[in-house]
Amino acid sequence: MQQRQARVAVIGAGPSGLYAAAALLASGEPVGVDVLDRLPAPYGLVRYGVAPDHVKMKSVIRVLQKPFDPADVEFLGGVRVGDGGVPLDVVRQHFHAVVHATGSSVDRALGVPGEDLAGSMGSGAFVSWYCGHPDHTTVKPLLDHPGAAVVGAGNVALDVARVLAKTADEMAETDVPDAVLDVLRASAVRDIHVLIRRGPQHIRFTPAELRQIGELANADVLVHDDGLLAAGVEEPEDRRHRQMLEMMGEWAAGEPTGKPRRIHLRFLRSPVRIVGADGRVTGVVVERNAIVDGRVVGTGEQETLDVGLVVRAIGYDAEPIPGLPFDAATGTVPNVGGRVVRDGEPVPGAYVTGWIKRGPTGVIGTNKSDAVETVAALLEDLPGLPDPAHPDSADFRATLRAYGLRPVDWTAWLRLDAEEVRRGGLRGAERVKVAELAEMLDAAHGATTG
Ligand SMILES: Cc1cc2nc3c(=O)[nH]c(=O)nc-3n(C[C@H](O)[C@H](O)[C@H](O)COP(=O)(O)OP(=O)(O)OC[C@H]3O[C@@H](n4cnc5c(N)ncnc54)[C@H](O)[C@@H]3O)c2cc1C
Ligand SMILES: NC(=O)c1ccc[n+]([C@@H]2O[C@H](COP(=O)([O-])OP(=O)(O)OC[C@H]3O[C@@H](n4cnc5c(N)ncnc54)[C@H](OP(=O)(O)O)[C@@H]3O)[C@@H](O)[C@H]2O)c1
Repeated sequence: MQQRQARVAVIGAGPSGLYAAAALLASGEPVGVDVLDRLPAPYGLVRYGVAPDHVKMKSVIRVLQKPFDPADVEFLGGVRVGDGGVPLDVVRQHFHAVVHATGSSVDRALGVPGEDLAGSMGSGAFVSWYCGHPDHTTVKPLLDHPGAAVVGAGNVALDVARVLAKTADEMAETDVPDAVLDVLRASAVRDIHVLIRRGPQHIRFTPAELRQIGELANADVLVHDDGLLAAGVEEPEDRRHRQMLEMMGEWAAGEPTGKPRRIHLRFLRSPVRIVGADGRVTGVVVERNAIVDGRVVGTGEQETLDVGLVVRAIGYDAEPIPGLPFDAATGTVPNVGGRVVRDGEPVPGAYVTGWIKRGPTGVIGTNKSDAVETVAALLEDLPGLPDPAHPDSADFRATLRAYGLRPVDWTAWLRLDAEEVRRGGLRGAERVKVAELAEMLDAAHGATTG
C-alpha cells in the first residue's frame, strides 16, 4: 500500500522552526513541509536579534537554510498566522499537523513609574531597530545625551551596551541599515550604565560576550561593586562563572585607560523610577539592593543617574496564539515534549518548539535538540492524525491569495538577499539590511528599488 504524503506547516522561520523543518526532512518520512513566517525574510532572531557585529554567529544561517536548497521545503514569507493574517483554524484545514515556532518577542516591563517616557524602551524594540526589523523602523532611540542605562545582566544587555559603546565606523562594517548608522554616528552617548540587580556571582552573561566589552577599542569598563569582588564572593561551582569573576575582578582592580566611552557595570542596583521632563527621560533613580536569603531587597539608599535613554534588557514574553492554550506566567504554550496540551490532554496535530515551547532562554543551538524532540513526537502521532479537509498544497496557496496574501517564496527571498548584499557592497559591508517593509517586498518580488 502506498504511504500517504502528510503535510506539516511550521509557523515561524526562526532557528527552532528551521531546525524542526530539517528534522522532518531528515526523518525520511513522506512529509511535505511549508514554513510560514509573518516577515518576508527567514531566520527570526538570527536576523533580528543576534547583534550585527556578531558576524560569525550569523553564519549559522548556512545551516538553517539547508532545507530550502534544493527546494525540499517551501518558504512562505510575509504570511502571518492569526490576527491580520490567515487564521489558525484555516491553516489547520490544509495540514495534518502544525508546529508553532513563533518565539517570544514581547518586551517585559519593569513596572516602575516613568517607563512610558520617550527614551525608555525594551531591548526588543531597541535591538529590532538596530537590526532593521520592519516593525521598528520608526523607533527613535534618544542618543543625544551623554548618559544611557541598560537594565539586566544577560547577554542581551551586553549586546545593547556594546552597540552603544562602539563607534559608527565600527558599526558601518556590519549590516545595520543606513538610517540606523546615521543615528549612531550622531550619538552623544559616552557613559553606559549597566544596572544589575544582584551581585557579580549572579550574572547571566557568558564569558565570550563579557570578554568582548573588555576588548572594545572605544570604551573602558568600570566595575562598581561596592568592593564585593575584592572582598571575595562565594565561589560559584560553574567554571564559566569563575572565569567571569576573575575577569571582572581584574577590571575592578584596574584603572580606566581614558577611552572616549565607558561601560559601567553597576551591581546590586535596581531602577525604581525613571524621571523626565517634557515627556522624555532625563534620569533614572536607582536603589541599592541587598541579597537577603537569596532574595533581592531594596535598602532604601537611592541615587539618580543622569541618562537620556533607558533600555530594559530583562527578558521577553510571548504573544498568545489564538486557538491554543497559553500559560501567561511563563509565556509559553503548555506542552509535554512538544505536544500541545489543554487541561493535560494533547491537542491533536498541534506542536510547539523553541522559545514559545520552553520560554525565552537558550542560545541558537539549544533549539536544535528541542526541535528534534518535538518532531519525534509529531512523527510518532502522524499515522493516527486525520487527513485535513484540503491536503493539496495548491489549495493552500489559493487560500492565502483569498486572504490577500502574496507569499515571499524562497526565490523571492533570494532576490531580497541579493539586494542587501548589493547595498553592502556600496558601504564596504557584507550586507546592509533593507528595513522598510515596502522596500523589502519590492526587492523580493522583483520591482526596481533605489
Ligand atoms: C537580542 C537577542 C540576541 C541574541 N543573540 C544570540 C547570539 O548571539 N547567539 C545565540 O546563540 N543566541 C542568541 N540569542 C538567542 C536566539 O536568538 C534564540 O535562542 C532563538 O532565536 C529562538 O528561536 P525561536 O525560533 O524560538 O524564535 P525566533 O528566533 O524569535 O523566531 C520566531 C519566528 O516566528 C515568526 N512569527 C512570530 N509570530 C508569527 C505569526 N503569528 N505568524 C507567522 N510567523 C510568526 C517571527 O517573525 C520569527 O521569524 C539572542 C536572542 C536575543 C533576543
Ligand atoms: N551571544 C550570545 O550567545 C547571546 C546574545 C544574546 C542573547 N543570548 C541568549 O538569549 C537568551 C535571552 O537573553 P536575555 O539577556 O534576554 O535574558 P537572560 O539571560 O534571562 O537575562 C535577563 C536578565 O534580566 C534580569 N532581570 C529580569 N527582571 C529584572 C528586573 N525586574 N529588574 C532588573 N533586572 C531584571 C535578570 O536578572 P536575575 O538574574 O536577577 O533574574 C537577568 O540578569 C539567553 O539565553 C541568552 O544567553 C545569547
